[in-house]
Amino acid sequence: MTKALVLGGATGLLGQALTKTLGKRDWDVVTLGRSDGNILDPSFLQANLEKIGPDVVFNAVAWTAVDDAEDHPDEAGLLNRSLPHTLARILATGTAFLVHVSTDFIFGGGEHIPHKEEEEPQPASVYARTKLEGEKAVMATLPERSCIVRTAWLFGPGRKNFVDTIIAACKKRDAIKVVHDQTGSPTYTLDLAQWCAILAEKRATGIWHAVNSGQASWCDLACEAVALAGASCRVEPITSSEWPQKAKRPAFSVLSNGKLASLLGTPPRPWTQALREYIFSTYLPAQDGGEAC
Ligand SMILES: NC(=O)c1ccc[n+]([C@@H]2O[C@H](COP(=O)([O-])OP(=O)(O)OC[C@H]3O[C@@H](n4cnc5c(N)ncnc54)[C@H](OP(=O)(O)O)[C@@H]3O)[C@@H](O)[C@H]2O)c1
Repeated sequence: MTKALVLGGATGLLGQALTKTLGKRDWDVVTLGRSDGNILDPSFLQANLEKIGPDVVFNAVAWTAVDDAEDHPDEAGLLNRSLPHTLARILATGTAFLVHVSTDFIFGGGEHIPHKEEEEPQPASVYARTKLEGEKAVMATLPERSCIVRTAWLFGPGRKNFVDTIIAACKKRDAIKVVHDQTGSPTYTLDLAQWCAILAEKRATGIWHAVNSGQASWCDLACEAVALAGASCRVEPITSSEWPQKAKRPAFSVLSNGKLASLLGTPPRPWTQALREYIFSTYLPAQDGGEAC
């Protein structure tokens, strides 16, 4: 039985999806997180890696508060850069494989063509910069036994996410305003967890863009979520300048998933289909969202 260590596997949005998915694939799964000790302490991390002896380590721990990172660059750097670097350094002395998760936010805008793995990143925030530094540290330290999985705009069970926020807001208000001039790749954590498992099973090294197919603005995603949840509130498009945020967001961070599609032998399913499954199973469990058309 393959043994996995999932950092953030008990509490994180993606971490919980990984723990559940790997368990269903008959992996032996151990989690490590804040309640177990200080994972930023290299000797704590090393002692746990030695004790657990994983075949694969999935790093789903990060500083994900994008705006707060602007005010806490050092703390964000510890989680997003130093932690993956330490992990890679410790694993370099053994045989385990590292799956490190990164973000679409490392890209800027560009020409509105989905970003490929080899494209030059343009990080425009502390979060994006520290995540990119984490990627580089892993690739420089453990190139032959690691992969970088860049993903985007996650929704899924276990922890509040954008889709949950929109549905909750719609229950309280007649209308909500949502940004329409940022475009990305909405992605279901349970799909992403399957792809991460496959990448690990195939020992697929290098950078992988792992997102559901299609693209959307935040407003498109909100409209679809509201419609699927059967809510009657209006979704009104606004520009980013009407919704000022501390950290700069990319205008266009859609990731090309063609490389992943080749590995899987089929394109990842559309985000609309995955969202339907998420909303029907979470908010409308009596309904069946999985029937063939
Ligand atoms: N969410 C998205 O839309 C999105 C988009 C693109 C890429 N990503 C990437 O996907 C990965 C997973 O993101 P996510 O959305 O699942 O994140 P998340 O839900 O915010 O989970 C982050 C995890 O990191 C842990 N963590 C944070 N600070 C810690 C600390 N000081 N010590 C120990 N653990 C700490 C959290 O533990 P606690 O629960 O104890 O806080 C949690 O388990 C990240 O690498 C992120 O950059 C996410």
